[in-house]
Amino acid sequence: MHRRLIAPGALAASLLLAIPASAADFSPGAPGIGDPYYPASGNGGYDVSHYDLRLKYQPKTDLLEGTATLNARTTQDLSRFNLDFGLKVSEVRVNGKKAKFKKTGDQELEITPPAGLPKGTAVTVVVRYAGKPSELKINGYTAWHRTPDGGVAAQEPEAAVWWFPSNDHPLDKATYDVSVSVPDGTQAISNGVLQSQSSKLGWTRYSWRSNKPQASYLATLAVGRFDITTDKTEDGLPVLNAYSKDLGDNAGAARASIERTTEVAEWLETLYGKYPFNALGGYVPNVKSSYALETQTRPFYSPAAFANGSNASIVVHELAHQWYGDSVSVDGWKDIWVNEGFARYSQWLWSEKEGEGTAQELADYVYAQRPADDPFWKVKPGDPGPDNQFHGAVYDRGALALQALRNEVGDDTFFAILKGWPQKHAYGNAKVSDFVKYAEKISGKPLAELFDTWLYQPSRPEAPAVREAGI
Ligand code: ARG
Ligand code: ZN
Repeated sequence: MHRRLIAPGALAASLLLAIPASAADFSPGAPGIGDPYYPASGNGGYDVSHYDLRLKYQPKTDLLEGTATLNARTTQDLSRFNLDFGLKVSEVRVNGKKAKFKKTGDQELEITPPAGLPKGTAVTVVVRYAGKPSELKINGYTAWHRTPDGGVAAQEPEAAVWWFPSNDHPLDKATYDVSVSVPDGTQAISNGVLQSQSSKLGWTRYSWRSNKPQASYLATLAVGRFDITTDKTEDGLPVLNAYSKDLGDNAGAARASIERTTEVAEWLETLYGKYPFNALGGYVPNVKSSYALETQTRPFYSPAAFANGSNASIVVHELAHQWYGDSVSVDGWKDIWVNEGFARYSQWLWSEKEGEGTAQELADYVYAQRPADDPFWKVKPGDPGPDNQFHGAVYDRGALALQALRNEVGDDTFFAILKGWPQKHAYGNAKVSDFVKYAEKISGKPLAELFDTWLYQPSRPEAPAVREAGI
């Protein structure tokens, strides 16, 4: 394939003016992708199509080392570009040639290739690195969970900077091969299908493939000592669940929940259409946190989620995200309701199906629990701000908005909307306003006011969702 390293115009300019071509009409890629909630997230000037991570991790020392190879394409005439990354880098190559690089701030790696990269060029970036993710603190914080037997990368909105260089924003999705070598007796868990597992010289390499577009925060790595169960769905998808060997009293409840993954996914398919990815599963590392995360194909669950017995509802939440969040991702982080409102509402639908309270009853309950002066109503699910991105209001008021929609358009139309949306935006990105437009189109009703009331007003809507029995 031919590749122009220098644009003809730039060459002429450099001859005439004796300034470097890159300075003439090639410019640096922006250090952020333009998300007002997180200005440093993502970068401009290129789009990544594939990440290949070949790593080695030593649980005793927390040392992670290896090579990331990114396949990308430039979207402008590029003199230099940034990756989002925090660990120590020893070498960068761009299309085989050594590139200059420097860290700027906690999580930016600025790369200057020897020559400018014209718009539309296929670019291969190799980054060699090593470091201890638990020691990388950004604003005093690390997304890397150190465990007695290893470590885990699982956090939202960002986790990648602690373990691989990326264009760290859901707008730039890519496929992933993650291959990690760990001491024999330890496992490395990631997204998608386990392609191979092989041992030599005391180390076992686990190679995973996630072959559908995946946002960087949904890439996960867990190293530790796990009990693994495997199965296949009736459609032939591989199912792989991993449970830390140290779950203690929570082990039974964790299994009693996560082993229902296939059943839950089948039920969700009746609501949202065909499951969008190449594998199913979940994992429970020995972490102290209490949240769960919809890491693509293989959600992360904290042991604490199972402290009171089985919790199929949390499995419903994380699997619903595979459609709402992972296949259809936020366009910007302010659109978080297109993920969380629907994942929470899916839990209400599960409750309805299980005879533990209908969605309407749960909506009435949530509304009644929150008096008008509760600060809960100050949070706007449609634009909560970065500090409230995961506030309970995004989830519960977000689900109330969907109950209001259901009552407005009736069950047939409501469920047609819920099923149509993940097909319309499959493997893409969408905004809250796109959902409002879509719901209006399918229902043929004006819905701007309803959504404004439930998603954008900093106060309790006057009446709860109106019940229309019998629809
Ligand atoms: N998307 C995740 C969930 O709702 C939220 C994770 C938020 N992170 C946190 N540390 N609480 O399943
Ligand atoms: Zn969620």
